[in-house]
Amino acid sequence: MNKELSDWNKYWGHAWKPVPDVERIDAADYTSPEVFEREKDRIFRKAWLMVARQSEVAEPGDFIKIEAPTLDTEVVIVRGKDGVIRSFYNACPHRGVALVRQCEGRTGLFTCPYHAWSFSTDGKLKGLPGAEDFPHVDKSTTGLTPIHTGVWNDYIFINFAETPKQTLAEYMGEFGEYFDDMPFGEYTRAVEIIQDLPTNWKNFNDAFNEGYHVQVLHPKSLPMVPTRINPLNHMYDPIYLAPHSSATIQSNTDWVPTGKVMLFVYASTGVSFIHVDGPEEQAAKPRLFTTARGINRIGLPNYSTSTMNFFPLSQFQILADRYMWLRYWPLSPDKTRFIVRMYFGAPPRSHLEEFAEAFQLASTRDVFTEDVSMTRLQQQGMKSGGVKEVVLGENEHMIRFTTQMIRDYMNAED
Ligand code: FES
Ligand SMILES: [Fe+2]
Repeated sequence: MNKELSDWNKYWGHAWKPVPDVERIDAADYTSPEVFEREKDRIFRKAWLMVARQSEVAEPGDFIKIEAPTLDTEVVIVRGKDGVIRSFYNACPHRGVALVRQCEGRTGLFTCPYHAWSFSTDGKLKGLPGAEDFPHVDKSTTGLTPIHTGVWNDYIFINFAETPKQTLAEYMGEFGEYFDDMPFGEYTRAVEIIQDLPTNWKNFNDAFNEGYHVQVLHPKSLPMVPTRINPLNHMYDPIYLAPHSSATIQSNTDWVPTGKVMLFVYASTGVSFIHVDGPEEQAAKPRLFTTARGINRIGLPNYSTSTMNFFPLSQFQILADRYMWLRYWPLSPDKTRFIVRMYFGAPPRSHLEEFAEAFQLASTRDVFTEDVSMTRLQQQGMKSGGVKEVVLGENEHMIRFTTQMIRDYMNAED
């Protein structure tokens, strides 16, 4: 065993303190239509939601159309001539048509396909054919309906409340300050997978917030994670900065790949959990996440991954040289749109690196397939009526924390 790791108390001492006091959750919280409606109103219409990256609307006039499927809503996000990013409901104020049909583009004017009312990139009504028939419409006060929009780091957030209780800066709070040097914007290549799955959204949050299952569920797809000193893969160094959270996972330096392909990928290239490039190669790439202050602050020599939860629907899995952005949009009590976007750094420079990247992508797919299968079986069991409540161990502290945040939102005064 790596000697540095034998003093595990050094790292363990930072683990889960305090453990949030959430030992059980009603199974009905995962299955009830009433709970789901309340979650929509109390959480998804009130919290700031991470929905896109600034680089997706990099230049004035750039727009994207996204879905907020939990609220049956399409949103147009556009960078105005003044450089400001704004969001609008995709709904024409004349007779309601969802006027933007492209998923992305660049324009100076949005024109409705029904009667050609047109709107500038700041949402104002610019053109109204036959304006004389609309003497009761004041062009200066008519336009697309705005949605509150803010930017943190490279990420765009929206808030559907008429008057959000907090600004985005307040919502991100200390968590946002602590992680504001993360170089997300430097990672520009991504692959995205979208699936609608028959399970409750919270099962995704729960699945990716404990390491307890890794040894059992992922022995083939994640052999490099459980270690001898931490076989149940407890997550180190939880950072609870309400309503967001983060924790750290180590990799097993005792693990030596044996299969030919694994050897090829892990031993022959710099695309692995242990970065082997020299300073020159690194200079040409995006900054490693391990250079950011919030990543591996406890100095684990075998650092593997950080989990970051942006309440309520986004999670990042951060590796040293890439990251995954997971979103779980609730569609109904037992249906969720699961979106995984994996961002890579600099493009491969050789066939070897290209193969390594494809291999890691396929491995990630395998891990998610295993996780997703459990979330489906979980929902099946919860719906059966055979379980009235589920129970959480102290090692499932991240789930406990987010559950407490959900309860706080559900029970808030207004
Ligand atoms: S519905 Fe848009 S112009 Fe008539
Ligand atoms: Fe998993």
